[in-house]
Amino acid sequence: MLRLDDRRLLGALDDLASIGAIEGGGCARLALTDEDKAGRDLVVGWMNALGLAVTVDAIGNVIGMRAGRENLAPVMTGSHIDTVRTGGRYDGNYGVLAGLEIVRALNEAGVTTRRPIAVGVFTNEEGARFQPDMMGSLVYVGGIGLNEAHAAADKDGVSVGDELRRIGYLGPAKPGAVKPHAFVELHIEQGPILDEEKVQIGVVESVQGISWTEYTVTGVSNHAGTTPMRLRRDAGYLAASVNLFVRKLAWEMGGDQVATVGSLALRPNLINVVPNRAVFSVDLRNTDEAKLKQAEARVAAHISEVAKAERVEVEAKVLARFEPVIFDAALVDRVEHHARALSLTTRRMPSGAGHDAQMMQRLCPTAMIFVPSVAGLSHNVKEHTEAADLAAGAQVLLNVMLELADQC
Ligand code: GLV
Ligand code: MN
Ligand code: MN
Repeated sequence: MLRLDDRRLLGALDDLASIGAIEGGGCARLALTDEDKAGRDLVVGWMNALGLAVTVDAIGNVIGMRAGRENLAPVMTGSHIDTVRTGGRYDGNYGVLAGLEIVRALNEAGVTTRRPIAVGVFTNEEGARFQPDMMGSLVYVGGIGLNEAHAAADKDGVSVGDELRRIGYLGPAKPGAVKPHAFVELHIEQGPILDEEKVQIGVVESVQGISWTEYTVTGVSNHAGTTPMRLRRDAGYLAASVNLFVRKLAWEMGGDQVATVGSLALRPNLINVVPNRAVFSVDLRNTDEAKLKQAEARVAAHISEVAKAERVEVEAKVLARFEPVIFDAALVDRVEHHARALSLTTRRMPSGAGHDAQMMQRLCPTAMIFVPSVAGLSHNVKEHTEAADLAAGAQVLLNVMLELADQC
């Protein structure tokens, strides 16, 4: 059996993590920033050195292709290398670099495959700077148009199109020009289950639905000492009440329902002034679409009730909305089969986080492989996965890809 060189994979992860490194061992490479460009340049350099044919498409997705013996649709892997502002070093990066390590191992062993092997780096998976998240893969599968994606702007009004051009990644290729035979994404779990249960490989069957909304509340600012409570039109109060409400709602609904107010800005944000403006986000997720809709409706009802009582205006803007995704059953079985054949312990599970794979499932049979995240920490500089687990996941990916690459 062809074996991967784990130390090289770990070395590549270290090298990429040194770009945009932040205190505590994490990374800040927000999409399409100078740090993202430097990370991309490093990865593209590695792709070239491996002899891959590299293309960049008009949303900045990078694909490195290793030729097969036949001119068939490639077997594709990959992920993203952008991070949240306080990100770890494995989220996304692991999947991309494991893909490159697989190519390196095939090259060194002189192995040819029937189908080409492709490694993709998708633009702006995180959605922390530009929404929606999974933007590159969403455009790749035709989920939104190029113009809409290019027009997405960050909080300072800078657009995706302008930033792609500025960092030199507005490529000539048409997104989605290559339709893979299959797509398999390797990723850290980013949650606690595998670590708690001491299971080595998560066989991912689905990705939960995601609903992101930004609310802008307008009230009236006034003196904190002189304004009686009955006269207040406090935008901050509504934001706070939503935060409490979604927490209670998630507990009450139970199951997979989670809810987060992750971003909140008050204006004027001063100790002795009633806020006249609040801008905050609500992130709701559930594996069950009907329940996710129910959660959305209950949040909306709560907001209109409080807005009426507080006499504030609320505007809602949907930033991202994706239904739950079920991966290809046969491919999920193959992931489980190859993990077990390596004597690794496995568990079937849904993904709590969003992934490029959930978009790719619209285009071709898709599955994911998870490895444990220590203490379930992710989107945190302390995100960590043990070296042995990183190695095991990459070996499962290699074995799955080799089987797929020999299929007719
Ligand atoms: C994106 O990675 C998300 O799940 O928030
Ligand atoms: Mn990720
Ligand atoms: Mn992430």
